Amino acid sequence: MSKQKIAVLVSGSGSNLQALIDAVNAGSIKGQIAIVISDSLDAYALQRAEKQVIPTICIDKKACKAEGEFDALLMNSLAAVKPDLIILAGFLSILPCELVAEYKGKIINIHPSLIPAFCGKGFYGEKVHRAAIEYGVKVSGATVHYVDENTDTGPIILQKTVEVSEDDTPATLAKKILPMEHSLLVKAAELYCDGRLELDGRKVRIL
Ligand code: GRF
Repeated sequence: MSKQKIAVLVSGSGSNLQALIDAVNAGSIKGQIAIVISDSLDAYALQRAEKQVIPTICIDKKACKAEGEFDALLMNSLAAVKPDLIILAGFLSILPCELVAEYKGKIINIHPSLIPAFCGKGFYGEKVHRAAIEYGVKVSGATVHYVDENTDTGPIILQKTVEVSEDDTPATLAKKILPMEHSLLVKAAELYCDGRLELDGRKVRIL
């Protein structure tokens, strides 16, 4: 397969983006990161991209006051790149449904729990881990999934589990799970770019 063009959407520190950059540089992901788009001006992820001379766009959510302004800017930014794969790497904004429809089967997201647990609207970052600990689960983990028109409900690509200890706090659980997110997201991007993911309804087969 020819090199896939990847767009990475970020909102925060960009440690997942960094894992993708390192894997592209090492040649394990047969693709190139053509653009990094942030919805936040102070996302450190932007600096990580700039260090690698990867084009960046910041669509500052706070500055987009008009109805639909953010969505239109995001759609136009992606239309200019025409990515083969869009990766949500800690991206906190909800995608416009027309974008999800246009790129159906080409958008993947990393979530820091075992979906369908502790996911959906309002479940992001440490809130996810707090909910898992308060519920008393014995295992948690990370999930990479396709993005569909709802939040965290698309077909699951990969998952990995981690033991939740008695004395875990949201911060210590986050620390355990973050490296897993990195390895799962890189693995999913590798498989996607190698054409080894087969989507069949809700089922994802790895060829
Ligand atoms: C991480 O906590 C992860 O669970 C979620 O976004 C947060 C920031 O990730 N996906 P990153 O360091 O910006 O990649």
